[in-house]
Amino acid sequence: MPQWTPDNWRKLNAKQMPTYPDQQLLQHVEGDLSRLPPLIFAGEARALKRDLTKVAAGQGFLIQGGDCAESFDEFHADTLRDSFRVLMQMAVVLSFSGGMHVVKVGRMAGQFAKPRSSDHEQQGDISLPSYRGDIINHIDFSADARIPDPRRMLRAYHQSATSMNLLRAFAHGGYAGLHRVHQWMQEFVSGSPQGERFSALAHRIDESMRFIKACGIDADNTPVMRETAFYTSHEALLLPYEQALTRQDSISGEWYDCSAHMLWVGDRTRDPDDAHIYFLSGVQNPLGVKCGPSMQRDDLLRILDCLNPTDEAGRITLIVRMGADKVHDYLPNLIEVVKESGRTVVWSCDPMHGNTVKASSGFKTRPFLSILKEVQEFFAIHRAMDTHPGGMHIEMTGKDVTECTGGAQDISDQDLRDRYHTHCDPRLNGTQALELAFMIADGMRPSAKK
Ligand code: PEP
Ligand code: CO
Repeated sequence: MPQWTPDNWRKLNAKQMPTYPDQQLLQHVEGDLSRLPPLIFAGEARALKRDLTKVAAGQGFLIQGGDCAESFDEFHADTLRDSFRVLMQMAVVLSFSGGMHVVKVGRMAGQFAKPRSSDHEQQGDISLPSYRGDIINHIDFSADARIPDPRRMLRAYHQSATSMNLLRAFAHGGYAGLHRVHQWMQEFVSGSPQGERFSALAHRIDESMRFIKACGIDADNTPVMRETAFYTSHEALLLPYEQALTRQDSISGEWYDCSAHMLWVGDRTRDPDDAHIYFLSGVQNPLGVKCGPSMQRDDLLRILDCLNPTDEAGRITLIVRMGADKVHDYLPNLIEVVKESGRTVVWSCDPMHGNTVKASSGFKTRPFLSILKEVQEFFAIHRAMDTHPGGMHIEMTGKDVTECTGGAQDISDQDLRDRYHTHCDPRLNGTQALELAFMIADGMRPSAKK
């Protein structure tokens, strides 16, 4: 491996990368991006790593969620607000049930680039380059739209900056105060037939809130009651963009990828000999590694050696995405490898990417019951092996879309066409996401942990 520098990944094989026809324009854009302000600062990434250290030690839970792919067209303050709101509500439910701190990380403010299973998309007789996310090309099925355009990186950067600005305001400006989140949850429980089933748990949370208030703790005198820590993350796929946002921290002299607090490497680009793992090995952000059924024991060990040679706690989150029917066959093996090698990781469950099916109506969907089942299996396996089920990684939106079937709204294959808005994979809607939190809440109880 070459000595690490932010650009030495270029000497290695980089999968899933677009070929830009206009190389001069690409270089211009990279130069512009490298002069723009970082979107996060290193101290924040270190704070997230500290939070994740606690999760790795079994004293916290990570919730990571947002769009599969953010888009330029769907960008709106209300969309961000609604997803943020649902994540906050899920965090309260899980924190209450598990009796532990919940670390909140959005798949937001930078989640634009998508790996694709095929380089081309076929429609009838026509074959065109695949859509790779708004940061690379356009989703329309036309030859022009699919040409990779580097200027899209600048637009993605600016959208990420404004998203980040609003998310910070929500997190610190009083919008996410515990009383407000509690009130939204009460509205969900009492205002909808889907929510009513969870009234017992909601009632217990309500009582606790009253007790806290009676003790004299409120938003006016206690900062944790009125603000929260909210972090951002995305897949570090488009390396020219990630490199341009990578900066040397003036305090520690270390390199950080300042496009987000946390970055993850996808299941298709995690070859330890390739460019993506190499690039991530040199930045000090907390990192996620997607682990699908093809992850072998030796691959995992090599990846951990590359990304975390000193076994720093909080550095690595393994995001397991096997599928409801496969998690039992593959996860125990990975847990054993990590145990035997004495490694420290956060175990997180992505119950989305292994459960994608094609509905009879032709839409790509994910049955709510498969999603629930994978999370439940994940918890059960960890309990049986005496390890900590530390987190959940979901594709969701606060909007009332119809992309995943099932849930209490009982969305059918035929309903999918009503509000199918995703630019890539199907997301849980706000109701389904909250339902999922309530339904796994039982498994979060400390007594159920071991
Ligand atoms: C994703 O998270 O959107 C994704 C593409 O996941 P994976 O790499 O696990 O397939
Ligand atoms: Co996805």
